[in-house]
Amino acid sequence: MSITFSRQGCDGFVTEEELYALKQQVVHCHQSLHDKTGKGNDFVGWVDLPEEYDKAEFARIKQAAAKIQSQSQVLIVIGIGGSYLGTKTALDFIKTPYYNEKNKETPDIYFVGNNISSAYLNDILEIVGERDFSVNVISKSGTTTEPAIAFRVFRQLLEKKYGKAEAAKRIFATTDRAKGALKEMCDGEGYETFVIPDDIGGRFTVLTAVGLLAMAVAGVDIDAVMAGAQYAHKQFAEADLEKNICYQYAALRYLFYTKGKTIEILANYEPHMTSFGEWYKQLFAESEGKEQKGLFPVTANFSTDLHSIGQFIQEGGRYFFETVLWCKEPKTTVTIPFDEKDGDGLNFLAGKEMQFVNSKAFAGTMLAHIDGGVPNMVIEMDKMDEWHFGALVYFFEKAAGISGYLLDINPFDQPGVEAYKKNMFALLGKVGYEQRKAQLEARLQK
Ligand code: PA5
Repeated sequence: MSITFSRQGCDGFVTEEELYALKQQVVHCHQSLHDKTGKGNDFVGWVDLPEEYDKAEFARIKQAAAKIQSQSQVLIVIGIGGSYLGTKTALDFIKTPYYNEKNKETPDIYFVGNNISSAYLNDILEIVGERDFSVNVISKSGTTTEPAIAFRVFRQLLEKKYGKAEAAKRIFATTDRAKGALKEMCDGEGYETFVIPDDIGGRFTVLTAVGLLAMAVAGVDIDAVMAGAQYAHKQFAEADLEKNICYQYAALRYLFYTKGKTIEILANYEPHMTSFGEWYKQLFAESEGKEQKGLFPVTANFSTDLHSIGQFIQEGGRYFFETVLWCKEPKTTVTIPFDEKDGDGLNFLAGKEMQFVNSKAFAGTMLAHIDGGVPNMVIEMDKMDEWHFGALVYFFEKAAGISGYLLDINPFDQPGVEAYKKNMFALLGKVGYEQRKAQLEARLQK
């Protein structure tokens, strides 16, 4: 079981000398991260989390998951950004994007509070219907509008359906240890709570109760997830760029950025990894996109997107590079059938597994893109299982931290996210935003 990295597809775009010229800079970034002396150093709790997580809470997560499994047919997970993306990613990657549609013993899991669409919320309410459900509301600040609205709706529904006392036994909150509106509500109402550690920012929390509770409810082996993260914690703790593939990835990203390739495409060949791409986008965009700097992270789902954006990748503006996530073993196999008439001319593939075709699509595409002027890096895993999920999450988190430090920004805050919130609150008429409201309305009327 391993995660491997290939930078062969970067030959001709960057030299070994250019890469290793960054050695000292990378050592400095590594030390700043590990010694907690870099920018945003109060939010680096994720670095040693795979070893130092709260074992008592971990046991409590398993107990709560068993309780949810026994009392509910549906779990509603409420959260946005870092309080939702990792959890969704884990289920899709380890289980399947069709988890809810599958025959299984564990509850269906739906995500709400990650948008402000009434149509979406009504769809989920209709899908839940009369079934028994529990809620896991996740918000570090406890004040984020999107999950707060959804929680209000589902809490009232629970109380109407089961009464206040029983509803309280069906609400599980993952939030700050001590402060925030949600924490206060939980203390008042007696909801079971799990902690989002003070020193871990939202997008780095998937390996905390944020991600682990829903994973456990879905029957994911969360010990194996943590074992994968522990492997990565050890494996990618080496300061030396030559020995650390995670740092090589971060350093190459930075090199491409300095050469004007300011967009990274994270490509995959498995629909089970589509939401991993969504998680990756948040991780890197919120971590790096500051002070007018940073790579813009985008994703591509191949071979699907080869028939949409493939043309652009091959021949459009040359300002991006590609990082491919490749999984060697498919979750299940399909053998291409023989056909007497061979009307589609596919009999040369009869008897071959689809993964064989997928692997040739991957190799052929990579070489075509390299020929078209797109540097390629490959992150390869053996399987899409718990262990590899934990390892991959840590690999990318570490790469995001080092990437941010190479850019000399604070990778662990997200001040820019406040701008839209302030305008939204002003336009909604929240007390304290009167002046901004008048200014915005004047601009909108022009
Ligand atoms: O990474 C982050 O910090 C953000 O994406 C948050 O997770 C997101 O804004 C949700 O915030 P909260 O958990 O406070 O509701």
